[in-house]
Amino acid sequence: MNAEVRRAAGILRGGGLVAFPTETVYGLGADASNAAAVARLYAAKGRPADHPVIVHFASAEKAFSFSREIPQAARALAQRFWPGPLTLILKRSEHAKDFVTGGQDSVGLRVPSHPVAQALLAEFGGGVAAPSANRFGHVSPTTAAHVREDLGAKVALVLEGGPSEVGIESTIVDLSSGEALLLRPGAISQRELQEIVTIKESQSVLRHSGGLARHYAPRTPARLVSTFELDKQIAALKERVAVLAFSRPDERVDYWLRMPRDAAAYAQRLYAALRELDSAGCEQILVEAPPEGADWAAVRDRLRKACSDG
Ligand code: TXA
Ligand code: MG
Repeated sequence: MNAEVRRAAGILRGGGLVAFPTETVYGLGADASNAAAVARLYAAKGRPADHPVIVHFASAEKAFSFSREIPQAARALAQRFWPGPLTLILKRSEHAKDFVTGGQDSVGLRVPSHPVAQALLAEFGGGVAAPSANRFGHVSPTTAAHVREDLGAKVALVLEGGPSEVGIESTIVDLSSGEALLLRPGAISQRELQEIVTIKESQSVLRHSGGLARHYAPRTPARLVSTFELDKQIAALKERVAVLAFSRPDERVDYWLRMPRDAAAYAQRLYAALRELDSAGCEQILVEAPPEGADWAAVRDRLRKACSDG
């Protein structure tokens, strides 16, 4: 067992904050049973206190102790996708306190697969409340350096785990109502979920901050444009723009990042790319819209949010 991981678990036990890698994005962790620690977490993020937070565990068995009612669908999804990039919303047990559920009767549970997250959660033993380790509303971090840029001195320790493999936040399935609702698309696609349980896509009535229109956003105004519109905009350029596109750089554009045509590879690089474009000193970011296919649902969701001005 790595000394850094032991130190991190000690900080969590003492009510402190630790940022750690997961396969989706880096999380900012606090002891999920400690009200003061979770309050510190919300303060560090600048996040409203009534938003629920996902609780992370080393195993499904431990995760399910936070729920009083585990439907067969939850067991089947956990069996298939945990550890991995899936969050389940279930009816809470007495262990899931108001300060992690935002006062709701449900709780978000996840068992991440990243070896450093697994080691930390196993060493700590209990549940770790962890939103993405960024300032509220900003782009999620996919490297330890991103976390330091965003949160700096607010975190006692940032565990290093390399770039997150998935790159966007976990798929969230809400099983707390008797139906299975897809609250947030992610690397585990609706089609993969459907093989196990009948899924409805929903505009959930539950409060969840990922559901706000503007979220995951760079500071520079960003716009999602079709390939055709991108060409037109470039021809009529009046300001410095940074472009995220599939095609080769156009020399009339100040800053150009080329993205892969594979959805998983695109997702893996998306947040680092948005951060890079954001710091390019341009007046605007133009993002070439990705294809319509089901493979791109999660990327389209994050791009819509990054490019929304609502
Ligand atoms: O991949 C991920 O899920 C990352 C890593 C760190 O695990 N975490 C993450 O957490 O994205 P966060 O807090 O940035 O987003 C969690 C989403 C939010 O929209 C939150 O409000 C929602 O999950 N959520 C958590 N508990 C919920 C509940 N009981 N009911 C409805 N939504 C819930
Ligand atoms: Mg987040």
